[in-house]
Amino acid sequence: MSDEEVQVRPIDFVRDEQPLKTLLNDRDKMRLEHAEPALNDGDCFIYVAAERGVPVGWAIVHLNYRDDQDWEPDEDGRAYQSGDNAYLENIEVTARFRSQGLGAKLITAVEDEARRRGKRNLWLHTSENNFKAHQLFERQGWQHETSVYPAWKPGARMRVYKKTL
Ligand SMILES: CC(C)(COP(=O)(O)OP(=O)(O)OC[C@H]1O[C@@H](n2cnc3c(N)ncnc32)[C@H](O)[C@@H]1OP(=O)(O)O)[C@@H](O)C(=O)NCCC(=O)NCCS
Repeated sequence: MSDEEVQVRPIDFVRDEQPLKTLLNDRDKMRLEHAEPALNDGDCFIYVAAERGVPVGWAIVHLNYRDDQDWEPDEDGRAYQSGDNAYLENIEVTARFRSQGLGAKLITAVEDEARRRGKRNLWLHTSENNFKAHQLFERQGWQHETSVYPAWKPGARMRVYKKTL
């Protein structure tokens, strides 16, 4: 796979929404739909990894907490989207395209963009047993801050990672 074939770029919502949805589970499809007004208002941004124009991965970052994003109640989650903080809600590369460096490229792209938007810290949650993701984030300079049992995922232990930008 050459660099020309897979490009990491900001989402073009009109063009990318439907093909991106074919990669996503139902919950993430719903989250993408909810993100559209936040994108338009500059409260959120999305990067896609696109092969010949078609999304094969994405990363979504929230810059400002909004009531219309269907968040479960979570004071920490709100703090991660306020002031100097931004929240990497989701990053996914479709299975066939994994282990080719696209996850790392998406992370670098969203870090650069969050910095450009004036943020100092990026935060994310990932499952305690998602070892592949832990390795990737740690290699990219993220730190495991704490582990929590969030109200929005009952019974699941989640890691909170932070990247200082
Ligand atoms: C986590 C995830 C986004 C990583 O995406 P990815 O595109 O596979 O990430 P990368 O390719 O940059 O890095 C992953 C591995 O590929 C390896 N790799 C990177 N470039 C490579 C290349 N050119 N050739 C071979 N291997 C390569 C890396 O060493 C890394 O291996 P390691 O983590 O075992 O050390 C992907 O696995 C995924 O979508 N998982 C499901 C969703 C998820 O868990 N999201 C994270 C929580 S929000």
